[in-house]
Amino acid sequence: MSATGVKTALTPPQAMRFKGVTPLVCLTAYTTPMAKLVDAHCDVVLVGDSVGMVLHGLPSTLGVTLDMMIMHGRAVRRGVERALMVVDMPFGSCEEGPEQAFRNAARVMTETGCGAVKLEGGRHMAETIGFLTARGIPVMAHVGLTPQAVNAFGGYAVQGRGEDGDRVARDAAAVAEAGAFAVVLEKVPEPLARRITAEIAVPTIGIGASPACDGQVLVVDDMLGAFTDFRPKFVKRYAELGAEADKAVAAYAADVRARRFPAADHVFGDTPKAVRKGGAA
Ligand code: KIV
Repeated sequence: MSATGVKTALTPPQAMRFKGVTPLVCLTAYTTPMAKLVDAHCDVVLVGDSVGMVLHGLPSTLGVTLDMMIMHGRAVRRGVERALMVVDMPFGSCEEGPEQAFRNAARVMTETGCGAVKLEGGRHMAETIGFLTARGIPVMAHVGLTPQAVNAFGGYAVQGRGEDGDRVARDAAAVAEAGAFAVVLEKVPEPLARRITAEIAVPTIGIGASPACDGQVLVVDDMLGAFTDFRPKFVKRYAELGAEADKAVAAYAADVRARRFPAADHVFGDTPKAVRKGGAA
């Protein structure tokens, strides 16, 4: 709430002040109705490039384009009032260098109305993060497992186990020092998440990175159990929407085949009845 009593969205500087005070709650959303649901309960709504796999059936996030992110960002914008809306920069939109990243991130911000962008990568993206933040584009960084680098990693394995932890810790320190207002830590072991959270000044937001982080993020469709065949260890399912939807679609198909639907209640007569609550007769 602002001084004038007008509801305003959480800002990146306000999100930074959650560190050490209260956990930052974050979920993804890609559509207006889901954004409204998430906005009512979360501090950050992330339009993740996971949209490519979740809604478009792509095998990885690599095929996601800037136009897709902008289209979903615009849809989410219409559902967000109070949370900080962050839009992911897709693969290939920032890697050429700071100028390319600024051009594309400025487009994302102006065309979607988001409050910040997120970009994947550690030390090699630090210069770009500094360039963007110095020019008015708040950046959420993302280190550890960065799914856009799936081919370089050779899969989606946990990152930073044992001695490899120093590499991820250096990445997190570099992006935080470059000006990121928060850092997503994906799929790293708990001791490393604890170490990074203690070492950097900005909030860490974990996904598969333990409760040691300053906040948590999940793909909303994962925590709602939208997929019956995808159960990663780090996801807690709060609903089984996939199984429920399967039952509902099966029941609809059976009703149509047996001519049980539409029933009398769903049929319009030749002469109008009194207008009922919920729709014209
Ligand atoms: O694309 C995405 O949804 C993400 C998170 C889940 C961190 O990057």
